[in-house]
Amino acid sequence: MPAAGLRPLAVALLLLLSVASANARVGDECSAGAGCGSGLHCAACGDGGAGVCARATPVDPLTHGTGLPFNNYSWLTTHNSFALAGAPSATGAAIIAPTNQEDSVTAQLKNGVRGLMLDTYDFNNDVWLCHSFGGKCYNITAFQPAINVFKEIQTFLEANPSAVITVFLEDYTVAGSLPKVFNASGLMKYWFPVAKMPKSGGNWPLLKDMISQNERLLVFASKKAKEASEGIPFEWNYVVESQYGNEGMVEGKCPNRGESPAMDSKSQSLVLMNFFTTDPNPTGVCGNNSAPLVSMLKTCHDLSGNRWPNYIAVDYYMVCQHAKDPI
Ligand SMILES: *[C@@H]1O[C@H](CO)[C@@H](O)[C@H](O)[C@H]1NC(C)=O
Ligand SMILES: *[C@@H]1O[C@H](CO)[C@@H](O)[C@H](O)[C@H]1NC(C)=O
Ligand SMILES: *[C@@H]1O[C@H](CO)[C@@H](O)[C@H](O)[C@H]1NC(C)=O
Ligand SMILES: *[C@@H]1O[C@H](CO)[C@@H](O)[C@H](O)[C@H]1NC(C)=O
Repeated sequence: MPAAGLRPLAVALLLLLSVASANARVGDECSAGAGCGSGLHCAACGDGGAGVCARATPVDPLTHGTGLPFNNYSWLTTHNSFALAGAPSATGAAIIAPTNQEDSVTAQLKNGVRGLMLDTYDFNNDVWLCHSFGGKCYNITAFQPAINVFKEIQTFLEANPSAVITVFLEDYTVAGSLPKVFNASGLMKYWFPVAKMPKSGGNWPLLKDMISQNERLLVFASKKAKEASEGIPFEWNYVVESQYGNEGMVEGKCPNRGESPAMDSKSQSLVLMNFFTTDPNPTGVCGNNSAPLVSMLKTCHDLSGNRWPNYIAVDYYMVCQHAKDPI
């Protein structure tokens, strides 16, 4: 693995790991409220043990240059980015759905997250983000209208002219629903067109060209037919994706999720690694978002045709534990 490819990966990981560092105090023990120094926060596991100073923000992969193809970068990705702990439903109902993150999409983007996973449903004559079941959204599983979060993304892209964001849609909407919301959100201006996506595993455009052409929003969705009918790329034409949930966390294995081609399929040039448990648990995730994550990165790299994951999807992305071995 050439160093240039590894570097963007490594910087994305700094968020998840507490790497020993002489002057930044990353990795120092701390207690809630005690200062960790600029840019750091005290990440505690909620198990009564000491916390550890961790970066709230990864070093931006762009600081290592924008001259590589897009598929040579790795981006921190939040699973169910919209399912915020403690958030009330915009319907006014109390949400019973499991939650996966602890701050808003805007806060996530400001903290360096560049991959968002959103579940879209037809609901209340609109498209909503729901963490639901059976393909249907209910008041008690409905977070908020998708347009709100799409506008947050639009605002961030507007304010950060070098940012490139990828959105993964687990899509339950009927034909016609998404284009309306994307149009209304102002996001079409940044849309990376499906026609320019490499079809048989070739390199993506250079990151700097995507930036200069303002094609800074990649959307992938789970409904195959919409690629031809609405220009919304079918995720697994371009991305191999590992199994989500507990089955995806078995050491030494990196199985593909059912809908995805095999991890070593070379017809797709992007690799997405899921690493979160079936039942999100803000305490358990602490250990998971540390050494086991790094170990799985290596496993998935080896089993994905020696490619580092381009997207690393986690729950509670700010939570981690002291990792003894700096990477
Ligand atoms: C970019 O990614 C490709 C495909 O994984 C790999 O073959 C190549 O070595 C990488 N280039 C750099 C500079 O890391
Ligand atoms: C769902 O919430 C709406 C308000 O947004 C309310 O009018 C409706 O009665 C609720 N439905 C159920 C089944 O609780
Ligand atoms: C979205 O906007 C485009 C261009 O303005 C327009 O052609 C298309 O009909 C719109 N689609 C929807 C569903 O509003
Ligand atoms: C990973 O998370 C699960 C579920 O919360 C937990 O039981 C397990 O102990 C965690 N693994 C580590 C290494 O902390």
